[in-house]
Amino acid sequence: MANKERDSFGSRFGVLVALAGSAIGLGNLWRFPYLVGNNGGAAFIIMYVIFVIFLCLPIMVSEFVIGRRTQANVFGGIRRIAPKSAWPIIGILSVAAVIFIMAFYFVVGGWTIEYILKSFSASFLASDNTALASFFGEFISSPVAPAIMMLVFLGLTALIVVAGIKDGIEKYSKIMMPGLFLLIIILCVRSLTLPGASEGVKFLFSPDFSKLRPDSILAALGQAFFSLSLGMGCMITYGSYIAKKENLIHMSFITAGADTLFAILAGIAIMPAVFAFGMPPAQGPGLVFIILPQIFAQMPLGNIFSIAFFVILFVAAITSAISMLEVVVAYFMEELKMSRRTAVIVTCVIVAILGSLSSLSQGTLKDYTLFGKSIFDIFDYTTSNIMLPVGGLFIVLFVGWKMKRSDVLDELTSGGTIPFKRNILDVTMFCIKFLAPVAISFVLLNSIGLIKFF
Ligand code: PHE
Repeated sequence: MANKERDSFGSRFGVLVALAGSAIGLGNLWRFPYLVGNNGGAAFIIMYVIFVIFLCLPIMVSEFVIGRRTQANVFGGIRRIAPKSAWPIIGILSVAAVIFIMAFYFVVGGWTIEYILKSFSASFLASDNTALASFFGEFISSPVAPAIMMLVFLGLTALIVVAGIKDGIEKYSKIMMPGLFLLIIILCVRSLTLPGASEGVKFLFSPDFSKLRPDSILAALGQAFFSLSLGMGCMITYGSYIAKKENLIHMSFITAGADTLFAILAGIAIMPAVFAFGMPPAQGPGLVFIILPQIFAQMPLGNIFSIAFFVILFVAAITSAISMLEVVVAYFMEELKMSRRTAVIVTCVIVAILGSLSSLSQGTLKDYTLFGKSIFDIFDYTTSNIMLPVGGLFIVLFVGWKMKRSDVLDELTSGGTIPFKRNILDVTMFCIKFLAPVAISFVLLNSIGLIKFF
């Protein structure tokens, strides 16, 4: 059912900014810096980049292949290729994974709005360090305010998604993504020109492998999946809106390249400032919400930099949030025959309920834990470290072993119109068929404790 009316991206630039918009998000600005901080700096970054190149690129290419080949959502696409089999279960798991991600992601999206508003008030940054630290704790643990901010964030995301692919997602990404790069570069310059910044640069770029912890490997793998929006159907869904003539291998490189570049820029914007002000880098999730405001408070023109930083965080978050919502919306529209508007509303209700629970788990519901983790942490940890790698594993197995090789090659070469060197295609297929599945399985089995390699 490749119907003519199916919405799609209108231009190559539009596709690329939308893909980069999905990939670049809180993962780069909030998760990556604190994971780097907690896992010893440069050594973690090197491992991360290796995972991106050898494992994530093949998965991204595979997701694009499924999406564009079938012109359908994550479930419908897989079912079209393998009807009457168990493979479409991957689609259901993907939709579940993305709903779980939204359950905590939109809460943090709400925090970014609160911090933009706060940065405008002169008194906020005039507070001392203890007050700034306790503000964060008090804000996220209060029952109502963060939930309202989450709903505002959800509402804004819904407004973009309801407008569709070309007139919503593409249009807004084209405006927001270039601005995002410009702003982060300004912050990098500010951070690098602070006296004492070089310690932070050293932390980011000179590796000390003894600082890696046993769980750092899984954390790096999970982060790579999360940051590139892989393993939960997002790139399948976006892939289904990409024009037939586009080169999927190139698009994967550009998307992964832009995302990794942005993660490093985020590190450069944050770590040198953290070191210059003598702050601790291993601060966990509070790093950007506690430590950075303390730094802005001591900086000349701190308010301006604070506004700029939290606007960056918000824009990065919302361009990712729309891609998550779209996965579920496309699924509801195509599988349950809902209109776009109804699908958006239904999805928003689900996210509002789960998001409220995870927001409340920072305070009122904090005693409800599983394995010592709050509801919020469970959504965060299980999606990145388990559901996304498992999803990615099945995707490469599906494209490598279930799809016909000739169909995959036909899609990669856009029906033979893109003249690839033979060995580029061979290497791509080798990574999809063997390297990625074996390596992901090892890391997963190792971290469940079934086998011990490292
Ligand atoms: N890649 C996004 C980020 O780095 C998060 C994301 C995950 C987006 C899954 C879509 C799907 O913030």
